[in-house]
Amino acid sequence: MSDRPEMFEGVEEIWLDGEFVDFEDAQVHLLTHALHYGTGVFEGVRCYDTDNGPAIFRWEEHLERLFDSAKVYDIDIPFSREELTEATVELIDREGLASCYIRPIAFYGYGPLGLNPSESPVQVGLAAWPWGAYLGEDALENGVDVAISSWRKYSSSQIPTNAKTTGTYVNSVLASLEATGNGYTEAIVLNKEGNVAEGPGENLFLVRDGEIFTTGLAESILDGITRQSVITIAEETGYTVHDDATISRGELYTADELFFTGTAAEVTPIRSVDDNQIGQGTKGPVTDEIQTAFFDLIETGDREEWFRYV
Ligand SMILES: Cc1ncc(COP(=O)(O)O)c(C=O)c1O
Repeated sequence: MSDRPEMFEGVEEIWLDGEFVDFEDAQVHLLTHALHYGTGVFEGVRCYDTDNGPAIFRWEEHLERLFDSAKVYDIDIPFSREELTEATVELIDREGLASCYIRPIAFYGYGPLGLNPSESPVQVGLAAWPWGAYLGEDALENGVDVAISSWRKYSSSQIPTNAKTTGTYVNSVLASLEATGNGYTEAIVLNKEGNVAEGPGENLFLVRDGEIFTTGLAESILDGITRQSVITIAEETGYTVHDDATISRGELYTADELFFTGTAAEVTPIRSVDDNQIGQGTKGPVTDEIQTAFFDLIETGDREEWFRYV
């Protein structure tokens, strides 16, 4: 217990291949295909303690993306959506969690070690643990300092960017290591064309002259579920949202406001890019309005179809 990472302290069980097992027993073989070749797909989901009780935010959409990601790699998930939903709800209940982060993962397990994974069994796991603000509480309030990464996002002609695949996160890891190593909180990654793609684990929004822009799906981004939620919230708040934008690096520097969205990062303001102050160098008014609407919705659980109660 004592040598566990702090974030996993208190986690009792993990669901693995259909069984609830003790945290310490959630193990895989060294010759697991996904460990060598990155052949796994996963999700990051949050359960929030809403006014109506604990509820998983946009569970159906996350499950849909998990199965879509799996389809790309011929990963035949041996559990139905209903079984995974039941297992997740039971896990949260057994762990006694009101709000938490949920990590579903499906991957090619221990089998012959060739590149073709078709002889390897598909394994599936679910873990849940309490997780606060990903980039810190201060980040949500005052914004983060980010740098453009020297690492480019891989193109969707090389690896599908709409699939959330374990192996491809080495790109995000490199960007994150570089940014934090240079004293920044997070990176922004450009695509092969040199335009803005996204953050290592976030989508990006820009505000200019009262309108909102976010990079389009053809810019080599993950189609974030928080991105979709924020587009809906912003439009309902009365903003014009351009959700198919191509954004150049220079436009970031001169933006009125910038913010990240993501399950982990939620709605996080960006206060500088490459040491260039954005707007007033703190959370801008549009970001504040969208962020407030987002957290209000999560608190009240008002939009029923976005919540799966535990
Ligand atoms: C590369 C990348 N882009 C964007 C996102 C945001 O997606 P979502 O809002 O679905 O969490 C994530 C997080 O999963 C991500 O890893």
